[in-house]
Amino acid sequence: MSLRLGDIAPDFTAETTSGRINFYEFLGNSWGVLFSHPADFTPVCTTELGKTALLKDEFDKRNVKVLAVSVDPLEKHKGWVKDINETQNTDVQFPIIADEDRKVATAYGMIHPNASENFTVRSLFVIGPDKKVKLMITYPASTGRNFNEVLRVIDSLQLTANYSVSTPADWKPTEDVIVSTALSNEDAEKKFPKGVKVVKPYLRYTPQPDL
Ligand code: BEZ
Repeated sequence: MSLRLGDIAPDFTAETTSGRINFYEFLGNSWGVLFSHPADFTPVCTTELGKTALLKDEFDKRNVKVLAVSVDPLEKHKGWVKDINETQNTDVQFPIIADEDRKVATAYGMIHPNASENFTVRSLFVIGPDKKVKLMITYPASTGRNFNEVLRVIDSLQLTANYSVSTPADWKPTEDVIVSTALSNEDAEKKFPKGVKVVKPYLRYTPQPDL
């Protein structure tokens, strides 16, 4: 059975470019991003890991720990990191798992045999501090992911974990959010003193409450 939103993220211990890591210990009470790429020394993957490294401060700001994975061996990862740093003008500091036995890839369903028998696709999981899966995205090998979109979703996940709101299509931090339909108008006015704009009984907006 493949993983679904709300499931507990499987724990594992794996060899990485930063040594042997137990996933849950690595995460501690932080949020986590676990993402796979098909293979080392390939062009799209090189840009993806470079972009993630360039966004280090953004992930840190959100208390998110990042961990990459592919089925390539450790020595290959280490050689490739030098290329990523050189070509993407960055310094990869997050660990990359050498998942040669596919233990992590199998636990997270990162191999899609009809896409490739041998390589992981571009899977990405956001894990909450409760170790539950909050987001799953899957891209094909030919399309690099948008890591600013990953940050945007994390902003939404962290906001909606703390307030009775959800975020509308294309929402960006600082924009108005949607009041939970579980709240009456009266309770919504109390919870959101900055104001509640009622468009329809089921569609009510309020300014982002944590600003
Ligand atoms: C790439 O990263 O460019 C790539 C990796 C595997 C298959 C196709 C493209």
